[in-house]
Amino acid sequence: MRVVSGIQPTGKPHLGNYLGAIVNYVKLQDEAHAAGGECFIFLADLHAISQPHDPAELTRNTREMVATLVACGVDPAKTVLFNQAQVPAHAELQWLLNGTARMGWLNRMTQWKDKAGKNREGQSVALFTYPVLQAADVLLYQATHVPVGEDQKQHLELARDIAQKFNNDFCTDDAPLFTLPEPYIPPAAARIMSLRDGTAKMSKSDPSDMSRISLTDDADTIIKKVKKAKTDPEPLPDNEKELEGRAEAQNLVGIYAAIAGKSVERVLGEFGGQGFGAFKPALGQLLVDTLAPINARFLELKDDQEALDAILARGASQAREAGRDTLDATYRALGLVR
Ligand code: TRP
Repeated sequence: MRVVSGIQPTGKPHLGNYLGAIVNYVKLQDEAHAAGGECFIFLADLHAISQPHDPAELTRNTREMVATLVACGVDPAKTVLFNQAQVPAHAELQWLLNGTARMGWLNRMTQWKDKAGKNREGQSVALFTYPVLQAADVLLYQATHVPVGEDQKQHLELARDIAQKFNNDFCTDDAPLFTLPEPYIPPAAARIMSLRDGTAKMSKSDPSDMSRISLTDDADTIIKKVKKAKTDPEPLPDNEKELEGRAEAQNLVGIYAAIAGKSVERVLGEFGGQGFGAFKPALGQLLVDTLAPINARFLELKDDQEALDAILARGASQAREAGRDTLDATYRALGLVR
């Protein structure tokens, strides 16, 4: 079992990042560790330069994201935790895979279409080839499990297509070079929505701070945001079917279920028939109880630049070692003399 995943170090991490991604890193890290496998989690700082960015902010966000991951339970003793920029093999393997990836495949990526919008000509080349770097990220370590949100499923399929084509074109049938990675998408809570609009994803780019719960929000702020969250006037139903069409109610119940580790049915079993006047304080308290210890650990760590850089340096050296054989084999398979 080889777990590999990346997270972009952009903006303040929020509840959507936590429930959609970070919780699963911790879960798979512990499973891999127990099974004698390995876990690699990295900050996708090379991906972050595919869009306009401020260099000083990227540096700060990279360290903050390390502090966040560790505060949430990613354990550098169990997980190889690093940033791409310190492991040149990611960029090297991307270039080698650029020979295999097809323009048509990249043109079909929905994230590219969404981010580029009507202005494709004005985008960076990096935004277009972003999914090839992502494929290199996982193929370099022969990943088996890749914890990601629903929105990254297509990129993982592309990584499989690239691996498959490379194995076909440059390897013999009995000795394929790349392992085909499987996406691991958490069953519930894959999509945490905005508190102001149940049909939009909770996002750091939403101009309203009230739309998201940040992992650094204090207790009063969390309670206030939950209280002000958009809802409808109906009480909660006692079964999942009747939540359909009630995006905001669905989102709040989904958040409760994900944090409490219960099914939506069970949460509705407890709160069915009650209004949001009763449900919201319970949800607010649950969030405060869960996020307070994370917040405390984060504040303790975030200004200790030396400690954070030491974690990244150690992780990067382990990652360089782990990726070496696959990178060498890729050069060889392509007939490149070194
Ligand atoms: N593209 C991913 C995201 O935006 C981040 C990412 C980069 C990633 N490389 C990866 C995720 C490799 C999984 C595996 O969420």
